[in-house]
Amino acid sequence: AGRSQKPEPGDRLAFMVGDKKDQEITPADLLVGAVPTLAYPLDPATGKVLVSRVNLLTVVKLKAEDIQPSSQKNAADGIVAFSAICTHYGCPITTLHPSQSQIVCNCHGSVFNAADRGVVTTGPATRRLAMLPLAIKDGALVVAGKFDGPLGPPT
Ligand code: FES
Repeated sequence: AGRSQKPEPGDRLAFMVGDKKDQEITPADLLVGAVPTLAYPLDPATGKVLVSRVNLLTVVKLKAEDIQPSSQKNAADGIVAFSAICTHYGCPITTLHPSQSQIVCNCHGSVFNAADRGVVTTGPATRRLAMLPLAIKDGALVVAGKFDGPLGPPT
């Protein structure tokens, strides 16, 4: 029996693009106010990056005081991760809102509150982003659970 091709507890995260493409993301790589980091899960047993559309994640570090009680258990040292597939028409979510606690889809301007389970604060999207629970274990950023909701646009 192989592992699922979706993110699983214990997975690490890897950069999707850039100088560190396919390398593990550490807590120190993420800064409050930085552009969201696009990531894929990384299976620590094989070192394999699980590249697929449904595994694409958008990861941001928030100010601790901004994180709502709804999201605290899924955050690790202020870091939160969501499915990066916009629930409107599926564009990747790549932009930080000036509030620094919300994230924006550039295709049609939907805004999601990263500090509150990815709920929609500005449409046209109507469904929140699925959140992927994170934890820090022995200094590493790890996946701590499964996506907490459906991915992508409602069908
Ligand atoms: Fe994201 Fe339309 S695809 S707002």
